[in-house]
Amino acid sequence: MKFFVDTADLADIRDLAETGLLDGVTTNPSLVAKSGHSNFIELIKEITSIVDGPVSAEVASTEFEPMLAEAHTLAKIADNIAVKVPLTPAGLKVCKILTDNGTMVNVTLCFSAAQAILAAKAGATFVSPFVGRLDDVGQSGMELIADICSIYNSYVNFKTEVLVASVRNPMHVVEAAKMGADVATIPPSVIRQLFGHPLTDKGLAQFVADWKKTGQTIPV
Ligand code: E4P
Repeated sequence: MKFFVDTADLADIRDLAETGLLDGVTTNPSLVAKSGHSNFIELIKEITSIVDGPVSAEVASTEFEPMLAEAHTLAKIADNIAVKVPLTPAGLKVCKILTDNGTMVNVTLCFSAAQAILAAKAGATFVSPFVGRLDDVGQSGMELIADICSIYNSYVNFKTEVLVASVRNPMHVVEAAKMGADVATIPPSVIRQLFGHPLTDKGLAQFVADWKKTGQTIPV
């Protein structure tokens, strides 16, 4: 399972990239606004230089022609750009054109299995179902992931990867992994939560204390 970090914060991206566990980055207009950066293209260029894997950069327009023009601009930033388009007729039209030309595309704002089928038919590299936002409105985000994984697994010509988005807690990640989802894009705070367990902390404190009692050091 691949881990992308869901942020436009350069300090977080650099910090998490150092763990060696990061496979990509996703951004969206809200995350860019939150980062406070005023030059979107420069920000995305910087992110693509930190992480080798796919970096999702989202179009701003909602109409086909301007969206396609923006998509071409974003695709030129670096080889590891995945252009992010919304799951709309215009977005899927742009998706088909870009993926036919070898550009990675992340189709975002997916909330149903029917939408995920359309994204796969449009040749999307990734489809992003938003589990947290579905949970927020009383629907099961993880059930949607299960449905999409099972549908995609039934068709060998569907190459689209399931990118679990709007992740809110470690259980979303674990459930997605149990279902065989290809990728989870995870906020920095939730990635950090994945490392933790109180018994790890307790066990480590015990080992450190007991090792001290031996009076030894490991030669380095
Ligand atoms: C996906 O790529 C989006 O950036 C993201 O996961 C949205 O998550 P949110 O619902 O926490 O805003």
